[in-house]
Formats: sequence, C-alpha cells, structure tokens
Amino acid sequence: MELFIDTANLKEIEDASSWGYIKGVTTNPSLIAKEGLTQEEVINRIVDLIDGPISAEVTCDDNVDLMLKQAHKLYETNKKNIVIKLPINEAGLKVCHQLSKEHIPTNLTLCFSANQALLAMESGATYVSPFLGRLDDIGENSFQLIQEIVTIKRNYQYKTKIICASIRNPQHVKTSALLGADIATVPYKILLKLKQHHLTDSGLATFEKDALKTEQLSK
Ligand code: G3P
Repeated sequence: MELFIDTANLKEIEDASSWGYIKGVTTNPSLIAKEGLTQEEVINRIVDLIDGPISAEVTCDDNVDLMLKQAHKLYETNKKNIVIKLPINEAGLKVCHQLSKEHIPTNLTLCFSANQALLAMESGATYVSPFLGRLDDIGENSFQLIQEIVTIKRNYQYKTKIICASIRNPQHVKTSALLGADIATVPYKILLKLKQHHLTDSGLATFEKDALKTEQLSK
C-alpha cells in the first residue's frame, strides 16, 4: 500500500519527502486555510518538494461550469502531478466524468458509503477517498466501508485507486493495508508514529551498549 501525506504544511512535506516512502500529497481547503497562504502558493511549492500525485480541491461544490473552470486552471498551472479533488455529489460526479474524458486525474473526496464509491468508479475517478476517522466519529464502522469498497473494486476490476483518508491513528493505516486499500493518506504526526516501537528503542540501546564492549576488547 502506498503512503501519501495529508497536509498542506510545507515543512512537514519537505521532511516527509526525505524519507523515500511518501509517494504523494493530499490537501483540502481546511488544511490550506491553516497555512495562511493561497492554494496556488501552497500547490506551487508542493510540486517542487514531491514528485508524485498532489491532490488539490476545487472550492466550488455545486456549479459544474465553475468547478470545471477551477479544475482546468489548477491542472494547467501544474500539469505534471496535479490531481483534481472533487466532492462526491451530483456536480462533482459530473465534473469527474468530464475530466476523465480529458484524461485529467481526479480524486473524489468525502466518501462515506460504498454506493458513493461505486458512482465515483463508474464516473471514471482516478482515486476515491473514503474518510475513516469521520465515520468512526459518528459510531459507524470505517473498516467495513473499506472492505465493501475493496470488494466492489475487485468484483468489476475498476481501475480507481482507493485512498483511505481521515486517518487518525496507526491502527487505521494497518487495517487499510490489511483490507487491500491502494493508498493511505496520513497526517504527519501519525506517519511519525508508524516507525515507533518501544522494543526497537530498548533493543537498540542494548545493541549500542554491547557494541561498545566489543570495541573495547579489540583495543
Ligand atoms: O484530506 C481529507 C481528510 O484526510 C480529512 O481528515 O481528520 O479532517 O477528518 P480529518
């Protein structure tokens, strides 16, 4: 399963890009608003930091013409890696269908049901983003949703890639991988936790101590 970083913070993206295993970036209007920069400024900088798909969301959600205009502008400015993020609603699905005919990559966001994911796949979406944390927040089972979407994708060999989003903890990442999602887009602070284990830390401390003993013997 590929790992993307879910942030618009340039420092976090710069650090994550040095790790080697972060293959893309997802942003949304709320993440961009936290940075105090325009979407254009943020996206232009991210393109220089990560050589992989970068999702940038249209800000209009109900006017197909306006959404297409925004999508084309975003795509034309940074053609190489830009993925147009669209809401899974009537207008978003129409725009997705049109952009897929133009071979412009799309990421259908705010997906909370298997049927929404099915519509995204049928509309030619490049990616669909089910939101795990927000579903768990209302007492529903996000893992069941992932299982259902993975099954639909496999039943009909859809090419749409499943990006697990709204990841709140390492368990969300592990389960996404076990259930066969294609990608998890993960906040920086959760990415840091993925490599941590107290037995790794204590094991390393012991190895370091014992290596010193061996070095002293060879002196
Ligand atoms: O990129 C969208 C998504 O990951 C948002 O996460 O934590 O605001 O539900 P969250």
